[in-house]
Amino acid sequence: MCGIVAYIGNRQAYPILIKGLKRLEYRGYDSSGVALLNDKNLNIYKKKGKVDELVAFAEQFDTTSTIGIGHTRWATHGEPNDKNAHPHFSGDSNLTIVHNGIIENYDILKTALEQQGHVFKSDTDTEVLIHLIEEIQRSENLSIEEAVRVALTKVVGAYAIVVLDEKEPDKIVAARKSSPLVVGIGENEFFLASDATPIIEYTKKVTYLNDEEVAVVHRDGTFQIKNIQNENLEPSFQYLDMQIELLEKGGYDYFMLKEIFQQPQTISDCMRGRLNANEGWTTLGSVENNIEKFLNADRIIFVACGTSWHAGLVAEYLFEELARIPVEVEYASEFRYRNPVLTEKDIVIAISQSGETADTLAAIELAKERGAFVYGVVNVVGSSIARATDSGSYIHAGPEIGVASTKAFTGQLTLLTMMALNLAYRKGTISQDYYRQMVVEFSTIPTKIEETLKYNDKIEFIAEQIKDSTNALYLGRGYNFPVALEGALKLKEISYIHAEGYPAAEMKHGPIALIDEMMPVIVIATNKSAYEKIVSNIQEVKARKGFVIAIVTEGDKHIQKMADFVIEIPEVEEIFSPLVSSIPLQLLSYHIAVMRECNVDQPRNLAKSVTVE
Ligand code: G6P
Repeated sequence: MCGIVAYIGNRQAYPILIKGLKRLEYRGYDSSGVALLNDKNLNIYKKKGKVDELVAFAEQFDTTSTIGIGHTRWATHGEPNDKNAHPHFSGDSNLTIVHNGIIENYDILKTALEQQGHVFKSDTDTEVLIHLIEEIQRSENLSIEEAVRVALTKVVGAYAIVVLDEKEPDKIVAARKSSPLVVGIGENEFFLASDATPIIEYTKKVTYLNDEEVAVVHRDGTFQIKNIQNENLEPSFQYLDMQIELLEKGGYDYFMLKEIFQQPQTISDCMRGRLNANEGWTTLGSVENNIEKFLNADRIIFVACGTSWHAGLVAEYLFEELARIPVEVEYASEFRYRNPVLTEKDIVIAISQSGETADTLAAIELAKERGAFVYGVVNVVGSSIARATDSGSYIHAGPEIGVASTKAFTGQLTLLTMMALNLAYRKGTISQDYYRQMVVEFSTIPTKIEETLKYNDKIEFIAEQIKDSTNALYLGRGYNFPVALEGALKLKEISYIHAEGYPAAEMKHGPIALIDEMMPVIVIATNKSAYEKIVSNIQEVKARKGFVIAIVTEGDKHIQKMADFVIEIPEVEEIFSPLVSSIPLQLLSYHIAVMRECNVDQPRNLAKSVTVE
């Protein structure tokens, strides 16, 4: 939800801002803009649409400057147009701001400012904030950093902001609460951004701002951090470990396709050091450090949103079947507002790719307040959720840039499977022989995904057959029920075809009414348990002339005879099957979206990092 980037130093700011905005476009692409300060003149260039449109628009202007701020927007207040694009000016145009988040009390602030004579040009909450800063700076005669700090004490809501003052051309002021902000520290230069991707090629040294902290970075290389209560703070530094190649498409047409094909590697990366097939064990350092809590837990509650919630559903099957721990899976947005019963013997596991999802963060805070132990399963290193949880594990999938999550989903499944196997063994709910056998089998998953990816051409052919559908139904049972939900979500997200995922047997209780020859029904039919049942479900669909595409285990001739098309995947233990059966569904959605000329990596209205409720 909105990306921010800023630069101060001796280099030209504009190319750094544009490159950074392109990296951050996954956070929103309704509009983009930059503010550049040159010879004490503050100029703003902004445009509705993607960063490329801003670049084309800005060609006519002089963009020379060594200090600037930029923004790519996912609209909350005010429709996506040039006027509502960031940056925004203060009333006298001396100050400018970019903002990620929502100022919840903007209405009250706006009314008060209007009474003081302020006139607003946009419909955004952000413009209210810069006018508030201007008012405080003017009436109390404060430096820009002090004005920002005081203004933030009056604000309710979430913000990551960067502010420039024309009269103070050698500094940038930044602050955060609930939305992320990273400061990259170079030689007499600073980079600020919503995540580390715009910073990585210039410096590895960073500091992550914490909630209610205000940073001032100066052109002479010095910087200070305060909290909004005006106490000086000592920054803590971290060193980025990220390869630039991971941020490029690397020959693929879309990041999503690259990320689908990366999965054998990303899953191996997730397993590295945590699974040893020769010795037959799997372990996670931070589970080990808290083993008593896990072994004595009354319950595990997974909280997440979107695709990460689907990973939680798979984990429910794994943890209950293997480790016999009662599990609940909650949408973070519901959990946080429904006064859940929690005790100190509950473990709350938050699952998040970005580590920034606002609802998941709020669910974590609630769980902590109520005394539960909170564990994070996160991809983005140093993200807010990684820092807010009591402990946790990274999935090490590397940057995921396509808005539709693929490699992060299988990374989450990999980590959660290792966790369930390890806990089951430690609790004695599975035998040592079975544990070893499963660890060995699990280590072959990257190879099995590799083999599945070889069916890409066939999947593309099948995509051609159903690309013009307006609806699709995904069915699965057991471990493959969450896979059906995830398959349907992928199709909706990127191809705008309405799709529903259903437990196969539940089809009779409603969706069967929708089935006719126009309705593709994608059945995940690799289960060994309940195989006959899923065969019956396929027959029920065929009897109503539905068009069946079945994901089956290699060599399954029985379903092949019934289905219109089959996609074969290598035989795999049922507990691991979501890792493999989700791959053809990712590819199917991808090809359909490409054939429908959709922007696969940046689907309309979506954003990758949802930092608003
Ligand atoms: C957005 C993304 C999804 C993602 C969900 C949860 O909706 O588009 O791909 O699954 O947020 O995000 P998280 O980063 O917490 O996993």
